[in-house]
Amino acid sequence: MKYLLATVFAVAALATPVFAEEDTPLGKEMDKVNKAVKAVNRALQDPAQKDTSKDANLAKLADAKAAMEKSLTLEPAMAKDVPAADKEKFLADYKAAMQEQLKVLEELRAAIADGKADDATKAMEKLTKGKKEGHKKFKKED
Ligand code: HEM
Repeated sequence: MKYLLATVFAVAALATPVFAEEDTPLGKEMDKVNKAVKAVNRALQDPAQKDTSKDANLAKLADAKAAMEKSLTLEPAMAKDVPAADKEKFLADYKAAMQEQLKVLEELRAAIADGKADDATKAMEKLTKGKKEGHKKFKKED
């Protein structure tokens, strides 16, 4: 039993750095974006919600927008590892990518507001792509 407990604690200690990233201010905003966008994505794919969830989806997207705007003012944890000479460019590139993502979010909002399902799907795909690219460039490896 002693050994088992020791093992559990050792594993917990090892695992801590993996989760530490989640507690960054940016990580918290990203979590909000993620929850909101996922909820909208689920609603879009559910035929039963097709005509009923528009207002709820728009409210979720307003949450995502607010969190993304806050993200614009925050620095990725990775910035600490970037050499001083490259930092300005790194942060400018980060902001540009987040601004671009805000535009796509607006495309999604407009498509949903206008009831254009195909455009909404396309914007959602772009959002996923932007997320992947943004994470590849600006997010530390887990
Ligand atoms: C729909 C789009 C996006 C979603 C759903 C999303 C979601 C997430 C999630 C779930 C995390 C992990 C948060 C955590 O650790 O708890 C994260 C982290 C992160 N994301 Fe995003 N993300 C999106 C777009 C972007 C874009 C466009 C960028 C960059 C321009 C970006 C940069 C980052 C960075 C840097 C982190 C690590 C946190 C830190 O460095 O402090 N994300 N994101």
